[in-house]
Amino acid sequence: MSTNAQLRLDDKDYSLPVIRGTEGEKAIDTRKLRADTGYIAYDQGYGNTGSCESAITYLDGDNGVLRHRGYPIEQLAEHSNFGETAYLVIYGELPNATQRKQFGDLLRQHAAIDPQMQAILQGFPKDAPPMAMLSSLVAALAAYYPQLATNNFEADLKNFDLAAAIAISKIRTLAAMIYRYQNGLPYIPPKDVPFCDNFLQMMFSELYKDYVPTAEVSRALNTLLLLHADHEQNCSTSTVRMVGSSAANLFTSLSAGICALSGPLHGGANTAVVQMLQSIHDEHDDGTRFIAAAKSGSKSNRLMGFGHAVYKNFDPRAKIIAKACDDVLDKLGINDPLLAIAKNLEQAALKDDYFLSRKLYPNVDFYSGIIMRAIGIPVNMFTVMFAIGRSPGWIANWREVAANPKGRIYRPRQIYCGPVKRDYVPMAQRA
Ligand code: ACO
Repeated sequence: MSTNAQLRLDDKDYSLPVIRGTEGEKAIDTRKLRADTGYIAYDQGYGNTGSCESAITYLDGDNGVLRHRGYPIEQLAEHSNFGETAYLVIYGELPNATQRKQFGDLLRQHAAIDPQMQAILQGFPKDAPPMAMLSSLVAALAAYYPQLATNNFEADLKNFDLAAAIAISKIRTLAAMIYRYQNGLPYIPPKDVPFCDNFLQMMFSELYKDYVPTAEVSRALNTLLLLHADHEQNCSTSTVRMVGSSAANLFTSLSAGICALSGPLHGGANTAVVQMLQSIHDEHDDGTRFIAAAKSGSKSNRLMGFGHAVYKNFDPRAKIIAKACDDVLDKLGINDPLLAIAKNLEQAALKDDYFLSRKLYPNVDFYSGIIMRAIGIPVNMFTVMFAIGRSPGWIANWREVAANPKGRIYRPRQIYCGPVKRDYVPMAQRA
């Protein structure tokens, strides 16, 4: 196995170190490339660039493998819940009983939202995009907790446990408040109940009557959030790392991650899937026309919820969520016509050479929207749900950046391709 890569450039030989990860991942270390050769490595969109070393999540897209801190996602989905997986992702180990209780207590103690922050929410138009409201409110946490958000790594790491619990717990509470505000409903304060149940009761309780979720709904929400807990260097997580690398505090960095997630190519795909399934349903089609259109190669006609930038075999989360979807609908006695359409589409696509040859399989978003519909979450809140689920991964990645003594500010380079030097033209001489 090579320990160095040889590069021949302009008749000179250079030796570049090779790095190996614990799962055998291989990389050529190009950090000194420019200093040694005058060249930079060009990789538009960073698709082939390792931007960091990380001990949080291992992902093998060719073989459909996803592990958090070494634990396979299948085992976590079966045996763990969102709170415990969040702890694992953030702290690196499964909690013992004391740690789990302490973490749960912290989440419960910091679930409520300051009345002044509630006033900020009321300043937004009722029909404002929920992700715009969420990112603003999470940025505002830095103003409400300045002692936890000093923009100094050492000081902010000392208060990390508290800041992390505040972030996870309040993102969840803010999500429920945004929903209530948009629907003209009074806020329901958090209760001393488990994380997901608390979210459900803050969403769906009536003013004088608590909503008590069934075990099936509670489990389905836990699974949904757990499956989103982290996913390596995706667009929003890399954004959190990039912003964090400037020594920006946790809340500010998380707010940037929420903004990145709001884009339809990232966190918005679950919404697009349900809209696609609904229009197939409304047109009384069985999906045949959609599949034919998707094969045209046009980006605007893609089969939403199919394909993945990294998974080229199957998305392990999709398998788990498809089963969870079946279970929850079955136990709740819901007959969602969109589920039948989704299954037909999946079956048809998986027999079709267009999808097979391009390694296009259902991704996590293909079934997650149907679970959210079954729970009662409206389509415009889907990406917010993704943000609640992804918060542990963002927090863990921020911590890695903050705690890395050899870290440096993220600052990629570019290939300039604009005009070459030219002289200023006075207004009178301009065409
Ligand atoms: N439907 C039809 N054709 C597709 C689809 C699709 N969903 N996805 C990719 N293709 C085709 C492309 O047209 C291309 O065909 P060609 O080789 O004939 O030109 C080929 O498959 C490869 O496509 P790329 O865009 O190179 O694939 P890439 O890996 O870059 O894109 C992506 C991945 C963006 C997820 C893409 O598959 C897609 O747009 N899927 C639909 C949107 C979606 O579900 N996004 C959610 C991703 S998961 C997440 O964010 C949690």
